[in-house]
Amino acid sequence: MAKKPANSALTIPILPQFETRARRPLFDGLWPGIDGSMWLWRSVPMGSVPDARTEEGAVAVGHGLANAYEALAAFAGSGAHRSQVKSTYRDTHALLLNVPTTFKANPKSPIADELNREYGDRPTIQRVLLFGVRLKATTGNGTLKSAVDSVWETLRYGGSPLSDYEKDHRDMAMVFSRAGFSVPSLQELHLADSWWNYGLAKGVPVLLHDEHIHFFHSAAEARAAVDINRLDCRDWPEAIGEHAISFAAVESFDLDFTPATDTKARWVIPLLENGARGISIRAKVEPSKVTRNELRGQQRRYRADLSELQAQGKMDRAELEERETQLTSIERAYANGGPATLMDTSVIVGFSGVIDDIDKFSPPGAELSPMLNRQGTAWHETMANSAVRANPLQHDLPQTTISYSALPTLTRIGDADGAMIGMTEDDRQPAYLSPVAAADEDTLPFLYVLAATRAGKTMLLQNIAHQFNRLLHPQVIIDFKKNSDLSDMVRYSGGQTISLDDMVSADGPLDPVRIFPDRADAIAKATSMIHRVNPYHDSRVDAYANDISFAISWGIENGAKATGQALMMAAKAGLIEQKIIDPIFKHAQVYPMFRATFGIEPHTQALNLADGLTLVRSGATQVELPPMGMDPADLPRAEPAVRNSLNVIRMLVWGSLASLSSRRGVLHFDESWMLEKASPSDLDEVGRLCGQWGVFPIFYNQRPSGPLKIGLKGYISRFLIGHIKDEEEASAALQLANIDNPRALERITAERYHGDGGGLNWDSLQHLPDGNGGVARGSVFYYADLRNRLATVEHRPSDEFLRLGDQSPEGISRRQREKEETLLALR
Ligand SMILES: Nc1ncnc2c1ncn2[C@@H]1O[C@H](COP(=O)(O)OP(=O)(O)OP(=O)(O)O)[C@@H](O)[C@H]1O
Ligand SMILES: [Mg+2]
Repeated sequence: MAKKPANSALTIPILPQFETRARRPLFDGLWPGIDGSMWLWRSVPMGSVPDARTEEGAVAVGHGLANAYEALAAFAGSGAHRSQVKSTYRDTHALLLNVPTTFKANPKSPIADELNREYGDRPTIQRVLLFGVRLKATTGNGTLKSAVDSVWETLRYGGSPLSDYEKDHRDMAMVFSRAGFSVPSLQELHLADSWWNYGLAKGVPVLLHDEHIHFFHSAAEARAAVDINRLDCRDWPEAIGEHAISFAAVESFDLDFTPATDTKARWVIPLLENGARGISIRAKVEPSKVTRNELRGQQRRYRADLSELQAQGKMDRAELEERETQLTSIERAYANGGPATLMDTSVIVGFSGVIDDIDKFSPPGAELSPMLNRQGTAWHETMANSAVRANPLQHDLPQTTISYSALPTLTRIGDADGAMIGMTEDDRQPAYLSPVAAADEDTLPFLYVLAATRAGKTMLLQNIAHQFNRLLHPQVIIDFKKNSDLSDMVRYSGGQTISLDDMVSADGPLDPVRIFPDRADAIAKATSMIHRVNPYHDSRVDAYANDISFAISWGIENGAKATGQALMMAAKAGLIEQKIIDPIFKHAQVYPMFRATFGIEPHTQALNLADGLTLVRSGATQVELPPMGMDPADLPRAEPAVRNSLNVIRMLVWGSLASLSSRRGVLHFDESWMLEKASPSDLDEVGRLCGQWGVFPIFYNQRPSGPLKIGLKGYISRFLIGHIKDEEEASAALQLANIDNPRALERITAERYHGDGGGLNWDSLQHLPDGNGGVARGSVFYYADLRNRLATVEHRPSDEFLRLGDQSPEGISRRQREKEETLLALR
């Protein structure tokens, strides 16, 4: 087919001059329309509705909008009749923009390059809720005509006619500030003008079809499409660079008195799930007293009509009663005030793509209708500061229908910076963990990672440690688990590995007197150490407690630098009987593990972990733990090997904290239930010292019932909760974190596969295989952050990292084999 003549471009409705209804934004969110109107815009704070920690939390996300609408209602003119005051109602425009993009790390992050490498191609979403109100001029005729006619650039802010808006600007800014809204950035305002084109250039060639609009990447592509088939886009080849938006209107709401906690009330969520890119809600705000007045008049008439119908036998008793109940409930709702009313409310939704049957996207609480042949005007109605009104389907609604619709929903979680744990499942927002985010004084600075075996705790540990290392936080990882080997990852990250073997062969590098800079702490810890290790193996340890404490304290006062040295000095001075200290020294000789915490020589140095990343593992010196379910009160009667192991774990924790102190350090304790067993009563103190020394402790634990039992509920500041099959343990985790969310319990306990050989269960938090040895989805954790928010985050490191950090026996032996092969090849 011959090419069309060159003037075919003229037939393409390219509308660059109309790609916006707004002029250039001024300052403080002031934004004039091309029709001479002046609007004040704000950005509404977002919060997660679907995954809130509590129902109240989910509802609270809507409070800001509700406050704003209520406050705006108060600006209506005085008068009780709608007809008198309607012209004074405020014009409002809520505009939700939901634009897909790809992840880009904050360029200010010192590990931006690393994050971009790991996550750079992953999809994310830019979502903003803008709220605008049309300003009223106090003097003049309220238009900006003169200003529009003049050159904007020469307009002096504060000069006429902008000054006409000064008072209203101030009033509205106050309303918004009380509602918690903030001044939008220019970039956010730009999104209002370009959401249909992924936030890029706003002026693109468009082609209007009956039920959608095509936006082309270039004029040439628009021409090509028109050449192929102007009216039917189904004939266009894939190669044509374009995308479509289908505009629909909400035709009716079916919410009656649905409570705000009901999923039906949250009608925006299904719209977003179905690819809504823009949701525009225009309304005028009416005070509830006017509505109440209107209702009274209407209902008198309505009741009269109803009794007449019944008298004529056109309505049965039951129906009459039903209507009556409805009327009474509406009256009751407004009896003590009631919410402000949004009048002439128009809701337009722009969905991504060509959608044939828009009704299938209708959420449970509302019905959508296509805007047949009105796509262009619908688009223009959604534009900021636009005077175009395309939607004949308008509603009078209680403000709550919009405020609690989940319009400001955005799942975001975690700290402003730090290590990136992954992306939220909902909305794909990056989730960070900062080791220095200030902890509240009422809580312990701990992060608890709670998840069952194989759920991905240790993998997460390694990823966090790797990033913190790049962020120059000194760290210690304590990993006493048998058959685990984190050393490959530690080496990859540039860290060092040491083992207990190195410590048991030295003279008390973990001696509490060497570890604790504070003398009172040192005396208390040295005394309790001997009490717990119990070198007498019987109750003499209680009888001697005072003598031992006195001797240690005297020795330290007189210059001793280690526990054993202090005891020897006191014995020499005749302050403690030899028969008391002999068994202690004998114990140190017999058990090297105890020797690691019991120093005799004055000149040995305490454990000093170098800067950077240090992995401490058990090595040939295996730690032995008390049998399951042993009462902590019975620990002094446990086997000596158990008592020594618990002691060394305890001192290692103190020692690590001390060497990390004042350096923004981080302590990771994998399988931290060992510590809970070793010294449940110490955890409070670990918390206190971490606060004092500025160390961030992360505990990785399979059994949430442990910390719950020792009374840590309500004290821990952050949680990451992964898959836990055992329902009791899962409940314990939720209880510990103060999460009251039935869906969370369901997901935490859900298993990887649907029962009976079924397919993958995407509800499960376990990582999901893709069937080709790869990963379909990483492991997921519920993240409860410092700001009391809750969201699920997918941890999905690169394949290379997964190989390095794999702790399965096959993974470890494969790495071992590879190392041997490399060595062989070098020979
Ligand atoms: N984010 C992830 N994506 C994909 N696979 C993962 C992920 N995290 C862990 N895995 C896989 O799951 C296995 C178990 O993970 P990990 O060793 O971290 O579990 P764990 O919770 O520490 O278990 P345990 O309590 O037994 O130590 C890993 O060897 C790895 O193969
Ligand atoms: Mg593990």
